Amino acid sequence: MRFSTLSLATLLSATISSALPTALTEFYLVTSSQADPSSNSSQLQGVSATTPFDESPISGTKLLLRLLEPGYNTLPKFNLDASTGVLSTTLTSSNVPTQWNSTTVQDNAELQFVAEPQKANIGLGGKGEYLLSVGNATDGWTICESGSGESVLWWKGTAEGCSKTYLHAVTDAPYQRKLRVR
Ligand SMILES: *[C@@H]1O[C@H](CO)[C@@H](O)[C@H](O)[C@H]1NC(C)=O
Ligand SMILES: *[C@@H]1O[C@H](CO)[C@@H](O)[C@H](O)[C@H]1NC(C)=O
Ligand SMILES: *[C@@H]1O[C@H](CO)[C@@H](O)[C@H](O)[C@H]1NC(C)=O
Repeated sequence: MRFSTLSLATLLSATISSALPTALTEFYLVTSSQADPSSNSSQLQGVSATTPFDESPISGTKLLLRLLEPGYNTLPKFNLDASTGVLSTTLTSSNVPTQWNSTTVQDNAELQFVAEPQKANIGLGGKGEYLLSVGNATDGWTICESGSGESVLWWKGTAEGCSKTYLHAVTDAPYQRKLRVR
């Protein structure tokens, strides 16, 4: 998938007009080692974009969130339903949009999305309310290596090599497009 000219233009104008989200809709999720928000997500310390992915495509029932390196073409957007505490993203496959909903986040488990209605425990907190929280705590997200070698978001992951992170809601995509130098 590639950005159409239109969606790039929309993205750029969104970047210029409002760099921090004003509503709990249509934001990107990025990880950073810093808790304080930045009006320019590229300037968050150690920032990484994120995208949902299927660790076991054969079952195809559960998505996790993984980190993305620079050079991606598209980034999925997320919404948060404050009344149910559910974080969601809509992915389109064969022209059929499916809303993937987060399940209740548990200690030492991945952030997970399923294609079913859910009740969860996700909210926003921290300075300016730009940090994703679980049960009101913004401290506890970790990045751990998955079975297939991806860097995956966990809540309070305790495995060796898990590192602490903050999950930010932002409206501008970080390090958006890497230009290839030949
Ligand atoms: C955001 O920061 C990056 C990296 O410092 C910079 O290249 C970019 O121009 C900035 N974007 C805006 C809209 O200021
Ligand atoms: C995700 O949750 C929303 C709100 O409850 C619901 O409308 C939607 O159908 C759910 N997604 C799926 C695939 O069931
Ligand atoms: C989060 O904080 C609010 C306000 O202090 C409180 O009413 C609510 O019960 C807390 N939620 C959790 C899951 O701790």
